[in-house]
Amino acid sequence: MTSPATIDAATDDARVGRPLEDVDTPALLLDLDRFERNVDRLITTIRAGGKSWRPHSKGHKSPWIAAYQRSVGAIGVTCGKVSEAQVMVEHGVDSVLVANELVTRQKVERLVRLLDRAEVICCADNEGPVDLASSVGEAAGVRIPMLVDLNIGMDRTGVRPGPDALELARRIDRAPGTRLAGIMGYEGHVLTLWPAEERARATDESIAGLRETKALLEADGIPVTIVSGAGSGNHVEASAIPGLTELQAGGACFMDRFYGDECHMEEQGFEYALTVLTTVTSRPTPERVITDSGFKTLSTRDDVPSLVLGHDELEMMYLSAEHGSWRGARADKPIRVGDQLRLLPDYHDTTTFRHDELIGIRDGRVERIIRLLGRGKLQ
Ligand SMILES: Cc1ncc(COP(=O)(O)O)c(C=O)c1O
Repeated sequence: MTSPATIDAATDDARVGRPLEDVDTPALLLDLDRFERNVDRLITTIRAGGKSWRPHSKGHKSPWIAAYQRSVGAIGVTCGKVSEAQVMVEHGVDSVLVANELVTRQKVERLVRLLDRAEVICCADNEGPVDLASSVGEAAGVRIPMLVDLNIGMDRTGVRPGPDALELARRIDRAPGTRLAGIMGYEGHVLTLWPAEERARATDESIAGLRETKALLEADGIPVTIVSGAGSGNHVEASAIPGLTELQAGGACFMDRFYGDECHMEEQGFEYALTVLTTVTSRPTPERVITDSGFKTLSTRDDVPSLVLGHDELEMMYLSAEHGSWRGARADKPIRVGDQLRLLPDYHDTTTFRHDELIGIRDGRVERIIRLLGRGKLQ
């Protein structure tokens, strides 16, 4: 496993060591102290529950972040796409779960090409991906590790827990080009439930589907090594109950308004590590503020819009491609053209994928440039 320091060739960037005020905008900032504390909080909770951590990388798309998480105890990384997995493996990550069904030959062949350097596991919720993976794996002389993906309540992908899952597991286990590595499910429907007892109840109900299916497979003589699931929103509850062997929770390392407000993670001690640095470009009226961060920089969710830190009085009006329009400015909180503002993004997934890099900051200075090398990798 490559260490985080050797992955990040960008520490010789001329911006490193400069004060934050010298960073040109718009720019995505990662407060490294806060990020590290969030990582520590996540892994400590997961380990206290006797489980392993394989954080999802869909929000950060950065091999450096994955390597940092690995260096403090993560067992690998979870990806949404095989092209993201490729970036991770090419930068030294040695164990990847692609938590998705691969249904094109190109994707499976891409996965197979990574297997001499890393364990790369994929998923199936029907016979199609199993038969495809088996034919590609057999032709290459490998057995592709697969998880049965179970629908444990979210109603997105996943075979039903129980006999249907057993049938699929048998197929993976017996096919010449695949091997059963375990099962997974994602409880995306419980993340925002509150109070915590309600979220715990719903998490337990979901994970019961994984527990029961594991028992069924084992009774059939099929070993189940991996039982994977959970997002940031329910990682506390999922860590505390029996069932999972590893958790996919990842986004809480960065935090945003969705995690903080809707998943109640600020109350759980997580800190906002990711912000957008923007500059005021115009003040068309005393009440209005225009910034250089439009929808190519930020995303917009109506329910939890991005906020301007330190300026509760400002409210987002709309984003154009390159302009952010805000209203509510007041004379007692002066804002001038050229001022830098810090924005708290609504949702980090839909923010980071618009950027090439994160500026890692500590004590008001740039410590490193973190390249988002998985950005744009959609296949
Ligand atoms: C398959 C899967 N696992 C886990 C997660 C949770 O990730 P996070 O903790 O980053 O919200 C998601 C989120 O969309 C997901 O789709």
